[in-house]
This record gives sequence, structure tokens and C-alpha cells, in this order.
Amino acid sequence: MFAASHASSAAAAVEFDGIAPLDFVRASLEMPSDFLRSRLTASEIALALREGLHVGDHAFDALLPNDSRTASMRFWSPVKVASMAAHWLEMHGAQRVLDVGAGSGKFCVIAALITDLVVEGIEQRPHLVEQARALAAELGVADRVKFTCAALEATTLENYDALYLYNPFCEAGYDRLQWLDESLELAPDSAPRDVARIEAALDAMPVGGQIVTYHGFGGRLPDTFELLHSWSFGGGSVRCWQKARPGPSASRLFEGEWA
Ligand SMILES: C[S@@+](CC[C@H](N)C(=O)[O-])C[C@H]1O[C@@H](n2cnc3c(N)ncnc32)[C@H](O)[C@@H]1O
Repeated sequence: MFAASHASSAAAAVEFDGIAPLDFVRASLEMPSDFLRSRLTASEIALALREGLHVGDHAFDALLPNDSRTASMRFWSPVKVASMAAHWLEMHGAQRVLDVGAGSGKFCVIAALITDLVVEGIEQRPHLVEQARALAAELGVADRVKFTCAALEATTLENYDALYLYNPFCEAGYDRLQWLDESLELAPDSAPRDVARIEAALDAMPVGGQIVTYHGFGGRLPDTFELLHSWSFGGGSVRCWQKARPGPSASRLFEGEWA
């Protein structure tokens, strides 16, 4: 799956023989075209991310199979968003984070590469779980990320002190032409039920628990949470909240209603 990119990068590495790997990666990332940047190998991309270099989505997505690469712009977290979210979660004390609807694994593997978080993802589409596991293996973090093929309703959210949600449930409300793929039959009434599950999990979360959303999650947050960070990127907002007061709340706000 990743052979073409590896082969051409190996050739490039020979031409740059004698240059330290990090310098080679840095120079490659500064190449003026997407095509040249996308020739980086998985291990070079892992090195760049660990070193805090900017890896564009074109370069990262070249590690994905064709169908998933095409889907990336609409359905997978941009590298910058995944990196920012992971840093926020770690900075505010999260230890065990669940990506609800992990897709091809982009958030999870980036978080595992750049933080010490324990990262897990659930994903309802089996072929994406396979992709995510392959991506983690390619990037050398298979032992640090766990992907489970499961629906939200079968998942125990109390096991995690942080949730990452890139608007996972909205697809069920789209016309099927807008779906990621037709490997599953999505029920339109599944989204409100899943949103209610997340809202209940937020009520049950202990003080200090966190949630990061990108493009929201379709629900409202209890006012027992505090908004810590908000950043606009790619036509949406990535936001980080932390629970500041215990217990459920009678008052809930949609994301746009937070000051
Ligand atoms: C917008 S994508 C986000 C992917 C990934 N979190 C990321 O940031 O790159 C949403 C994913 O959630 C999955 N999903 C949606 N509803 C789900 C549910 N109830 N249980 C498990 N996975 C779900 C979809 O199959 C899709 O892959």
C-alpha cells in the first residue's frame, strides 16, 4: 500500500546521502510542490512530527490508501488540528483519550507520535479499523494506539478522561450521496441517540475530564465545563473544554453559544 512512496523516497535518500535524516526531512518538507513533499516515507513523517516540524496534509495523506486519501479533506482531521488537539489534551492533564469515530486513524496516530497520551479509537467501519492499524504500524506507534471496531453504543466512555470528537455523527443525517462510503447503512435517527450518549457521558465525567471537538459534535455542553481553547481552522473550529464542577448540569449550551 505504501510501496510507491517508499520506493521513490528511498531513491531520494540516496541522492541526499551524507545529510542527517532530520535535515533531509526538513529540506523535503520545504520543497515547493505537494508532489515532492508527498515522497516522504512513513518513518520520515514520524520523525518530522516528533520534532514538531510542519507536515502538510498532502504529505501525511500519501500514507493512506487512495479512497481514504480522497476522503481526507472532508472526513479526517487535518494534521494541524490533530496536533493542536493532542497538545491541549496533554497540557491540561489528560491521560487516556478516546477518539469517537477514529476513521483512518489520523488523530490517534498523530497524538501517539507527539504526546505521551494513551490513545484509543473506536470506529464502526471495519475496513477503516484495518487502515488505522496499518497506519499506526507504518508510523511505528502500533504498540501505543488501540483501535477497536465498535459503535459508540457498545463503548464504555467512563474508561477515558478525555474524548476527541470530529463531528462523528453528522454523516447519518446526510443524503447517502454525501456519505463517506456505503459500507454501512446509516440510520438517520442514530445521530440524536449518539449525541445524547455523549451528553450523558459529559455529565458523568469527573472534574478535570476534557473534550476536544472539531466542527462540534452536534450536541450541547453542560455549563459545568469551561472553554479553555478555541481555534479556527479549515472552515471550522477546534475547541477544548475541561470539566470544572462536579455532577450533571441543568444548563447546556451549543458550541456557538460559548463566549
Ligand atoms: C468525521 S470522521 C472523523 C475521523 C477521525 N476522528 C479523524 O479525526 O480523522 C467520523 C468517523 O466516525 C465514524 N462514526 C460515526 N458514528 C460512529 C459511531 N456511532 N460509532 C463508531 N464510529 C462512528 C465514521 O465511520 C467516521 O469514520
